[in-house]
Amino acid sequence: MASTAAISSVDAFGRSIRDLRISVTDRCNFRCVYCMPREIFGPGYAFVPRDELLQLEEIVRIAKVFAACGVKKVRITGGEPMIRRNLEHLIEMIASIEGIDDISMTTNASYLSKGRAVALKDAGLKRITVSLDALDEETFRTVCDVEFPVSRVLEGIENARQAGFENIKINAVIKRGLNEHSVLPLARYFHGTGSILRFIEYMDVGSTNNWKLDEVVSARELVAMINKEMPIEPVSPNYRGEVAKRWRYVDDGGEVGFITSVTESFCGDCSRVRLSAVGQIYTCLFATEGFDIRDPLRAGASDQDLLEIVQTLWGKREDRYSELRGQIPVDVFSDAKVEMSHIGG
Ligand code: GTP
Ligand code: 5AD
Ligand code: SF4
Ligand code: SF4
Repeated sequence: MASTAAISSVDAFGRSIRDLRISVTDRCNFRCVYCMPREIFGPGYAFVPRDELLQLEEIVRIAKVFAACGVKKVRITGGEPMIRRNLEHLIEMIASIEGIDDISMTTNASYLSKGRAVALKDAGLKRITVSLDALDEETFRTVCDVEFPVSRVLEGIENARQAGFENIKINAVIKRGLNEHSVLPLARYFHGTGSILRFIEYMDVGSTNNWKLDEVVSARELVAMINKEMPIEPVSPNYRGEVAKRWRYVDDGGEVGFITSVTESFCGDCSRVRLSAVGQIYTCLFATEGFDIRDPLRAGASDQDLLEIVQTLWGKREDRYSELRGQIPVDVFSDAKVEMSHIGG
């Protein structure tokens, strides 16, 4: 884009746009029960045909428009982003956009070989977050519903560390009756390693996971479980609007985080926008509708046109789903919310 200084865009509640999450594919080799349940995402499921995916250059062009609106952070997600061909090239192009000073990726680490970890680092990826919900093979298989050894995920994390990634984050979704017994083993495993384990409250994102409130293990419970064995104390946020609540082990064993999307919403500072693999823009993780930017882009819109589209969209944003959860009649959202595998975390 021609302009250099970013224009600050604020939404209807005065929230700026700072953080862009780009889903590069809706496909994944795992079938986590809370994200892509196999009954629905099985052999007959219609994934996005390849020609409908945004091309890498199209993603970069849209990312530049967002950077011009004030976006500073980009996270690459999926589905499983490492499935996407030429991912490293995309990262290289995004890392060189003026104004983008942080680029990270969320992955299940199953493709994180030594070579790919180094290639991602060389491409300019700054940070990696790995999804891992259990350490024992049986629970891991039950949660991810796939034949994949958990040792390979741990190897992937180690490969990333050896490639020079620091403070790797580990996301663990805890669902009652499924993997609460993994909380302490995970905490023990990552204690003192420099990796930051974050527990995520199981969310009612999408419409296929048959979410129930009583299956949510609250951050309060999780804190108590860990604190009993390994004392922890709260730490102040790294930046305004940080998603995870930070805690530290009193014995200097590092940090652990809790993502309280259900029990304590954090919409007030939400500066996140999401771009799906087909070019839909979502202004909330729980949105029922996206805004198609691929069509105008393919119809020849100029950078200025695209900038105006994004600014108008963000300017009227009123999303605060987590804050309103419980106050909205269930049928309003029941079967229309976008799936996490389309827009990533
Ligand atoms: P950094 O602070 O940049 O490392 O990222 P982060 O803490 O935002 O981490 P990440 O993107 O990995 O988010 C962690 C998880 O929190 C996601 O995978 C989601 O499950 C959840 N999450 C992230 N953003 C939102 C959000 O805007 N709303 C809600 N409800 N949940 C979110
Ligand atoms: N609730 C909470 N977290 C979820 N994730 C996917 N689906 C859900 C859900 N229903 C998490 C994944 C991954 C990140 C992208 O989002 O575990 O770490
Ligand atoms: Fe795949 Fe991540 Fe969803 Fe699991 S949570 S199915 S690894 S996209
Ligand atoms: Fe942001 Fe929507 Fe999550 Fe609230 S529920 S923090 S508005 S993405």
